[in-house]
Amino acid sequence: MQDQLPWPAGQRLLMCAPEYFGVDYVINPWMENQIGKAVHALALEQWANLRRQLAREAEITLVGPRAGLPDMVFTANAGFVMGKRAVISRFSTIERQPEEKLFRAWFERHGFAIAPWPEDVPFEGAGDALLNRGQKLIWCGHGFRSGALAPRVLEDIFAVRTVGLRLADPRFYHLDTCFCPLPEGWLMYYPPAFDTRSQETIAGLVPEEKRIEVGERDALLFACNAVDLNGRVFMSGASEQCLSRLRVAGFEPVLAPLSEFIKAGGAAKCLTLKLNEI
Ligand code: ARG
Repeated sequence: MQDQLPWPAGQRLLMCAPEYFGVDYVINPWMENQIGKAVHALALEQWANLRRQLAREAEITLVGPRAGLPDMVFTANAGFVMGKRAVISRFSTIERQPEEKLFRAWFERHGFAIAPWPEDVPFEGAGDALLNRGQKLIWCGHGFRSGALAPRVLEDIFAVRTVGLRLADPRFYHLDTCFCPLPEGWLMYYPPAFDTRSQETIAGLVPEEKRIEVGERDALLFACNAVDLNGRVFMSGASEQCLSRLRVAGFEPVLAPLSEFIKAGGAAKCLTLKLNEI
């Protein structure tokens, strides 16, 4: 018998308003040649629209933004949460390290027990660690941001089997840019983002009929960077083919365009953190 994860009834998401969002530096390939090019008014509008759409399915909780930390909007990277326990990200880039103490303060104020994370192992939270919805396990991406030891550390802290996946394409530098576990064991992902061994690992753990493989075009639209809530799958964009595969699998895709955030290398999933994962 598979150990099924209970599906939380009331969902809560952490988001951070894009007041200070912009592309101010380059720490991933999406940001190259984009410094100063995110249109601020449009970013505000796109974020507000995403928030409004998500608020139909979940309670939205906010963490205050901070001037000089343009990427703080990407709350998926705040940390990783399971139950009332959380670990805070250990950012690999110096540009994002000042976010750590702000996210830590938020988790402390909101009653989470914070498990210590080793100094020398980079880890970028729910950007790289995703709960599987079929058999209970954590998928942990590494290779660009999170360190190769991150899966082991997560497994020790949360006592849940953790499967490391090595990312191989710098455009898909966080696991959530190319991999989206969905309810009932479904998985939407872009296989070439992983090294051969990790592609085999995925294929060995997720039955073929449950794998929704997307092509490069959808991957570049951030189709896999999706938030699933109550059967709906919120995403910035995807091809008709990808949308119809999701529908056939029983999901209802909802589009919320996020072009300005894609200039920073993130979309719907990156802009949220699920707070009641169990
Ligand atoms: N500019 C941000 C960075 O490079 C984008 C983060 C996107 N977040 C994510 N969970 N994929 O860190």
